[in-house]
Formats: sequence, C-alpha cells, structure tokens
Amino acid sequence: MNYFRKMKKELFEELKTSLLELSHIGSAMALLHWDQEVYMPKNGAEFRAKTLANLAGIMHEKFVSKEFEKLLKQISKLEKNNELNKNETIIFSEIWRQFSREKKLPLEFVRDLTETCSNAQSVWAEARKKSDFKIFLPFLEKIVELKRKEAELVGFEDSPYDALLDEYEPQMTSQEVSIIFYELKEFLVDFLKKIKKSKIKINPTILNGKFETEKQKKFNEFVIGKMGFDFGCGRLDTSTHPFSTSFNPEDTRITTSYDEKNLFYSLSSAIHETGHALYEQGLLSENFGTPLGESISHGIHESQSRIWEKIVGQNINFWKYFYPKLKKEFSQPFEKISLEEFYKNINYVKPSLIRTESDEVTYNLHIILRFEIEKDLIEGTIEAKDLPKIWNSKMKEYLGVNVPNDASGILQDVHWSGGSIGYFPTYALGNLYSAQIFDAAKKDILNLEKEFALGNFEHFREWLRNKIHIHGKNFSANGLIKEITGEELNSKYFIDYITDKYKNIYEL
Ligand code: CO
Repeated sequence: MNYFRKMKKELFEELKTSLLELSHIGSAMALLHWDQEVYMPKNGAEFRAKTLANLAGIMHEKFVSKEFEKLLKQISKLEKNNELNKNETIIFSEIWRQFSREKKLPLEFVRDLTETCSNAQSVWAEARKKSDFKIFLPFLEKIVELKRKEAELVGFEDSPYDALLDEYEPQMTSQEVSIIFYELKEFLVDFLKKIKKSKIKINPTILNGKFETEKQKKFNEFVIGKMGFDFGCGRLDTSTHPFSTSFNPEDTRITTSYDEKNLFYSLSSAIHETGHALYEQGLLSENFGTPLGESISHGIHESQSRIWEKIVGQNINFWKYFYPKLKKEFSQPFEKISLEEFYKNINYVKPSLIRTESDEVTYNLHIILRFEIEKDLIEGTIEAKDLPKIWNSKMKEYLGVNVPNDASGILQDVHWSGGSIGYFPTYALGNLYSAQIFDAAKKDILNLEKEFALGNFEHFREWLRNKIHIHGKNFSANGLIKEITGEELNSKYFIDYITDKYKNIYEL
C-alpha cells in the first residue's frame, strides 16, 4: 500500500464517521418531526421547536467546523490528484457542494432568515384565515429580500433564481425549466379547452358515501402492501397533512388523513406517500450516512410518488384488480357503479382554485404559475405588492378560473412563508420525470399493465428499485433520466400520456 492510498483510506474513514454522526442526528430530528405531526400533545410544541432548533444548531456547527473543513480540504487534494475512485468522488463532490453552500451563508444571515420565516409562518396563517394578503405582504417582502441575498451569497451565473432552485433540484437551471414548462403550458391550456368542450359530463359525487375510518385504513394497508410497502421497515399513521419521512432504509414512516365521505382522500395520499417510501426503503442500508444512501433530488423523489399515485393508481388496469375488492368492502355506493364508470370518475378533470385538490391535467398549470411568479420576484421584474393581481390574472389565463379571495388564491400555500422559494417546480418536474420513466418501464417489461390487472406489482417495483432506488446519488437527476430513457428530460412523454388517457375518457 503506497503512502497516498493509506492516507486516503484513513481520511475517508474519518469522513464516513463524521457523516454517520450527522446522519444519526438527522434521523433523531426526523423522528421528532414525525412525532410532532402524529402524536405530540399540543402543549409540546414550544419545547419541541427548541429541541429541534438545538439539534439543527449542533448539526450545522459540526458540518461547518474547522476540523471538518480541514478534512474536506485534505480529501480535495486527493481528488485533484485523481486518487479517488468513482464512489469516493461522488461522496466527496456532493458533501463539498453542500459544505460550500453552507459555508457561504454567514451565521447571522441564517439566523435572520430562520427567525423571519418562523414569524412569517404564523402571520401567513393569520392572513390566510382573514383572507387578507396585506397582512402577509411585509413578511413576504422581507423573505424575498433575504432569498435574493442568499442567491448573491451562494453565487449564480445567469439568474439568481438558479441559486435557489439548486437547493431542491441540483444542476437544473431556471432556463431549462422555463423551456420545458413553456411547451407544457402551451399544450395544457389548449388541451383543457378541449376537455371543457367535451360532451362527456362526469359527476364524481357519485363516488361519495359513508366510509368508516377503520375500514378505510384496512383497505389502504391492503393496497400499499400489494404495492410492496414493507411493514417490517415502516408504518402508516394518521396526521392532518399527509407526509412521508425516513429515519433510515429500515424505518420509513408515512401518514394519511381521512374523510369519511370520500375514501379517495386517504387512499390517494397513502399511495402517493408509499411511492416516496418505496424509494427510501429501496436505498441500500450499507450506504446509510453517505450521499450514496440518499435520494437524488426533490423532483426525482416526487416522480416516485406520482408514478404510483397517478400513472399506476389511476390506471384502469390497477382498478381491474382492486375494484372488485373495493366493491366487496364498500358495497355502497360502488355496487351499482361499473368499473368503466368508476375509472372515468376518479379521473375527472376540472380547473379549480386549489393546487392540492387539482387533477393531473390541471396540476402542472398551478405549478407553472407559481414558478413564473417566484422567478420574476427573485429576478426583481415584479414586486410582492402586486402578487394578488398577477396571480388572479394568470389563473384566469391558464385555467379559466376567477379567484374570489386571497385565501383561495395567493395565500393558499405555506411554501413562501417558510422561505421555500425554488421548491414548486420540483412538483411538476416530478410529473414529467414520472411519465418519461414509466414509458421506459413499459418498453422494458412486457405486458406491464396486464400485470397490474392481475395484482402483480412486483416486477414494476423491482424495476424502479434497480433502475433508481439502490443507486442513491450515484447519478444526477438528468444523468439518471438519460441512463434510463436515453433522453434528457422533456415534456413529450407527459404530453403523450395525458393526450392518450384523456382523449379516451373525454372522447376527444
Ligand atoms: Co410528494
């Protein structure tokens, strides 16, 4: 063993030990967050927030400490001398990327941003309750100012928005997103007009009924078990807002929430979160603590939830298998509804005010609108005070919907109040990735959709696991998409998927 090799081995062991320490703190924090949403009594909130803030502080200090910096700089020398193998290079580059970003943000700035956002969130909640944007405006102005500052501190080439987007979808630029979204918007606005003119009228209220929560829960468990959710390595619980989190590949938690009148409310969330959970459960335990044991990006994560929730979970073949079972459990109202009728109803399209309640045709328009607005805000071409006007006119233009008040318009999402600017596009990117990935799966697996009709999801799940999950951050998002589909991300696959599916449903 030569001198460099030996040193490299020791340095890398040291790096892995430090990263493991950080990951274990991260796991503890995730557990505290989960508990906060699922079990914590209401009076626990104040102390819990302090506990989490303290742990976040410990993590930050460890991560930007002098010792850690020294270690990274030593490894960086090895990297420059081409002394690192492929996996080591991936681990080092990703940690270096995160470290550099965090190092560029002075502690004072981070404190200011954290405090502003924590105050802004309760102000936003109040503003939404009163449906009055003016209450939230000064806080939003401050957040935009701070996020512009953040972009400057982090650095960017073309648009300051790139520096913010990079946190959620590394390596993606706002220009790439703009091009892809523009094509998508052109298609969707036009396609939606055709659907509105269709003679087919769907009334999804026929799917409403009285569904006991306990019975719904059993059915949800049955469905997600079939999808391959490993109950030995995860749990399904209840919370106000459905979410998923993971402490490690062997303990992943998902939640849903129940509406006794509408069983799809909990079921579609359970399927969505299971898609996220299968990704987390598919990461390799031996890579825990390094980027090789982490998901690629928000967009790729969302592709895994949306592929199951929408492309599979609202596919006629999925229901060829599950519908007879649903009918058996809930004879009312499904007894009298045929599979075909049921299928049309769960895929009902209607432009609406609220993003989270929108269907798969209109959903991306909600996202494109938010992307355009936040990009313009950060680039300084529009001002926060004009947002309600801009929002409402875009809603009219893209979706044909009149916004009656701020609560169901500009104030509906929590993201901006929490400082999450640059997050929204990852939802739509997730949809685009999912369609492109599904197309590749269909080419690889003969009779894929016929397997769904027989209740066999194993092939598909294993395909996702082998193509995506087990690799962790071995690929960039675009690298992964090129590897799987042979092409860069584009909107063609999503457009084709939507066209085929809804031409049939709405007889266009
Ligand atoms: Co999701």
